[in-house]
Amino acid sequence: MSQKINIKDMNYGDCIKTFLMIKNIDLKKAKNDAMYLDMILGDSNGSEANAKLWNADSSMAAYKNGDLVFVDFLVQKFNNKVQLRLNTIRKSNENDPVKIEEFVEAAPDSSESMFDLIQKYIEGFVNEDLKLITSHLIELKKEKLEYYPAAKTHHHAVKAGLLYHVVTMLKLGDSISRHYEFINRDLLFSGIILHDLSKVDEMDSNELGIVEDYTKEGKLLGHIIQGINEIDRAAAYLGTNEEVKLLLQHMLLTHHYHAEYGSPKKPLIPEAELLHYIDLIDARMYTMNRVLDTAEEGGFADRSMTLEGRNMYKAQLS
Ligand SMILES: [Fe+2]
Ligand SMILES: [Fe+2]
Repeated sequence: MSQKINIKDMNYGDCIKTFLMIKNIDLKKAKNDAMYLDMILGDSNGSEANAKLWNADSSMAAYKNGDLVFVDFLVQKFNNKVQLRLNTIRKSNENDPVKIEEFVEAAPDSSESMFDLIQKYIEGFVNEDLKLITSHLIELKKEKLEYYPAAKTHHHAVKAGLLYHVVTMLKLGDSISRHYEFINRDLLFSGIILHDLSKVDEMDSNELGIVEDYTKEGKLLGHIIQGINEIDRAAAYLGTNEEVKLLLQHMLLTHHYHAEYGSPKKPLIPEAELLHYIDLIDARMYTMNRVLDTAEEGGFADRSMTLEGRNMYKAQLS
């Protein structure tokens, strides 16, 4: 029995017993009414594979995202990809030789260094109102930002993924805005820093950055409205200029762009238009990089819901 394995080293036909972490799990019903578990299991290197356990029963609804499990499986090929066909599954316990921390994926940079970089950007603001409200809000959420992911299952779903998302967006925004001199960089950077900040109140994450569920307020309002309310409270507390407050709220309100994704209005200022596209670029690039990591050169990755169901192609270039 190997305690930890690398999914990328497995061969078709291998029978393996090892520890893996549940990245995503669904208890589904097959056409013949039999229940099965459809899962994404991850190793300690961050590689993932689809796994199925046929003939499941309702007791298996107890397995959750982020559980470390001991599994016994056969490595199969399905649609030219590795698929793990599970025989057994059990949750790990304190007597097992591995710990969940070894399987948790984190952003490539430390939370501290990412937080410092964000603060450097804020220190450079010329507009005092934007400087004050942005640093006030980020300080309020500092503790949770140390480990919160940017999403439950979509992009940047790793420990401190939200900070990582914001830092990459700031770097992107920094370079893009240099080409358009009419852009107010303070407003753009503030929008980038605050746009998803209320995700720390929208989702319930443990300190490993694993989200079990959304909060009640998150389900009923969502991070856009929660963020707008937060700006309202902060502006009242700090005595922020009305125009600054309104522009920031507009940035948050429109950053998902489409009504069906939670934005009831389209951007009416260029900084908000840029914020939306920078957000989109970062989420897409992150996801494309990840899904292609699972594909072989000259092959296609699994369909990704974050990428509107596309099967990305892994180019074969020398
Ligand atoms: Fe968002
Ligand atoms: Fe975002």
